[in-house]
Amino acid sequence: MYLFFKTSKISAANNITLITNSKYFWSYKFASSTRYTAGLYLDHFYFFCHNTTQHNKKVKNTKLLMNKTNNGLLISIEGIDGSGKSSLAYNLTQKCHEAGYPIILTKEPGGTPFGMRLRPLLNYQEEPLAPRAEFLCFAADRAHHFEQLILPALSEGKIVISDRLADSSLVYQGYGRGLDCSMIQTVNAWAMQNRFPDIIFYLKIDPQKAIERIIARNATLTSFEKEVAFVTRTAEGFEQLVAPRKEVLTLDALEDQEKLADQAFLHVQQWRQAHNL
Ligand code: TYD
Repeated sequence: MYLFFKTSKISAANNITLITNSKYFWSYKFASSTRYTAGLYLDHFYFFCHNTTQHNKKVKNTKLLMNKTNNGLLISIEGIDGSGKSSLAYNLTQKCHEAGYPIILTKEPGGTPFGMRLRPLLNYQEEPLAPRAEFLCFAADRAHHFEQLILPALSEGKIVISDRLADSSLVYQGYGRGLDCSMIQTVNAWAMQNRFPDIIFYLKIDPQKAIERIIARNATLTSFEKEVAFVTRTAEGFEQLVAPRKEVLTLDALEDQEKLADQAFLHVQQWRQAHNL
């Protein structure tokens, strides 16, 4: 453990006030414009600063670092219906399992018993739900899923792979149904307790090809799959709202399944190495 104090500016006249006292940070204000912060991280990281802006930035960065290193690895797999998410999720889970990584495979909606009860209500709507109600149901599933399954698994250092997560709401209910995307992001963040995916695999596919795949599967079409125009809109939504983000790796959904799983697994290995997981 290293400790480092800057004392040169302290004078007897300064009024010392404890500003924050969390598990990892102690922050003292010695004068109206001067703030000294001590941080302790994994027994070997410590910093101080006396500029409030710099201080806030450092606290934020350090908290982000702690979030990444102490909290497992959260992966979501996203894409339109028929893009092959479930196969990739399963194959990637197998590879991680064979490599000896502690891993959990889950999905939205339906990652918990409560979610399993919601799933048919959402996928096969007898009368179309009001878009806001539809989103809030997905958000309720998400809040419960995070609280009950995802966050506890991450805090044990596990890898969690979820077949769909918050970005599906952004695209389907935001872009697809026309709800306010910033409201969706706010509610999503609250439901997820601000724990966002570290890696998002986005399976990109032409909507027409995806519809052909769904029809070939011979399954009963869900409320979301029935409308071709809606499927096309969700494909646009993924391109605009998800694909450009830095944590997103876009994969060609028409690639061979084994090759897709290899690409995703390589990315997971690189992430683990970079973050000492
Ligand atoms: P999915 O599990 O991908 O369907 P499948 O049974 O084919 O694997 O998802 C079910 C549907 O729910 C899908 O059409 C997308 C939709 N959905 C939303 O509209 N919003 C959401 O937030 C989520 C998670 C899913």
